[in-house]
Amino acid sequence: MALWSGRFVGGVDAFTQEFGASLEVDKNMYAHDIAGSRAHAKMLAAQGVISAEDAASIDAGLAAVKARMDDGSFVFDVNDEDIHMAVEAALIADIGSAGARLHTGRSRNDQVATDLRLYAKDLLMSLMEGNIALRRVLIEKAQAHFGVVMPGYTHLQHAQPVLFSHHMLAYFWMFTRDFARLAAAYDAADANPLGSAALAGTTYPLDRAMTSELLGFDHAIPNSLDAVSDRDYLLDLEYACSVSMMHLSRLCEEIILWSSSEYSFITLSDAFSTGSSIMPQKKNPDFAELTRGKMGRVVGDLVGLLVTMKSLPLAYNKDLQECKEGAIDAAKTLHDCMLCMGGMIETMELNEAAMRKASGQGFMAATDVADYLAKKGMPFREAHAVVGRLVLLCETEGCGLEDLTLEQLKSASNLFEDDIAGELDIDAIVAARTTYGGTGHDAVRVQLDEAAAALAAD
Ligand code: ARG
Repeated sequence: MALWSGRFVGGVDAFTQEFGASLEVDKNMYAHDIAGSRAHAKMLAAQGVISAEDAASIDAGLAAVKARMDDGSFVFDVNDEDIHMAVEAALIADIGSAGARLHTGRSRNDQVATDLRLYAKDLLMSLMEGNIALRRVLIEKAQAHFGVVMPGYTHLQHAQPVLFSHHMLAYFWMFTRDFARLAAAYDAADANPLGSAALAGTTYPLDRAMTSELLGFDHAIPNSLDAVSDRDYLLDLEYACSVSMMHLSRLCEEIILWSSSEYSFITLSDAFSTGSSIMPQKKNPDFAELTRGKMGRVVGDLVGLLVTMKSLPLAYNKDLQECKEGAIDAAKTLHDCMLCMGGMIETMELNEAAMRKASGQGFMAATDVADYLAKKGMPFREAHAVVGRLVLLCETEGCGLEDLTLEQLKSASNLFEDDIAGELDIDAIVAARTTYGGTGHDAVRVQLDEAAAALAAD
């Protein structure tokens, strides 16, 4: 018999019982549910709503239920519908009438809202830890390969050479912003709905500040209707997860390209690659592809929740039961993807020679040659056109800018002198970009320090 069956005459249909149950997904939050109940009972006793003896036996009873759930010996029954009733029914079965007083001044509506916020806070905490671990890997990789030059691209065409470290740090800053989004979602979750009861508050003298304190919430939510029906913090969580997955998908895409024969910039560790069942030579970047693909499901979780919430009247509606799975899925997916990609980046090897060779291709010194002319007095727009014509000449001759003779250069502009050779050196081109945030070695050294400080501050 369900705990709410008093006004029912007929039994529940077996199919609808199963259809309506949330026990499977709720199992993730049993510890949070029990923590909420222990805080509620303690507060009820402090307010004189239940006796100290009843509160003590409820507390011990809940601890015993938790121990059975911890060690897996607890037998769940789908007829209990959700974790709230599974815990309460077990408590009543164990300790009798004291257990039946636990639900005083409380509803499953404020209970599920409380559990979910406590659980979301835990999920966000572990996501922030995962984010920090990934960012540490990026900094270490940038430090370990400082000075390695690679092509920088726009439109996936060779543009200007950059330091590999600079490229890694670009991702570091994306994930730094993701951390801030996760932290903001944590703050949004950090408010206590308990004490709102079904929707309107309750006639018992509940101390909501006390349960907030016991459960580690920043404050009690000031409106009972809002408290039981708000799931914005899950949207914040899923948005933060989606953006971070999007960043990971960009990184994955580059890793997939870099490990192809066409690029050959990196070799992935065997531990982060797979083979083919038919082609013996294959070593595939499966896990980068999988992470790239999982971005879709996380965005699906976000969109799903937005649509579930759309037009929902106040206050609790059973639709809200649908909010949990997607949020848990988004958090677990991002967590695992960060872990996987951190390991992949940590263990991948760079093919520095291939990166350097590619950096010498595609006229990547062209901007610097134009700057050379501009610094000698030619208007930049004119210099751009002169170098454009030189590139055209190189293309017809099948050579690079560095292969042109001084005469050929002079016939394009007599501003060219012997010192042009220095402008064509890849390392010099990179090093010269000394502006704050640029790819020059000195600027990237400053950036590495700032990155380390940002990581230490989070
Ligand atoms: N199983 C429900 C959920 O997950 C708990 C709250 C149910 N409340 C209710 N009045 N049906 O959302």
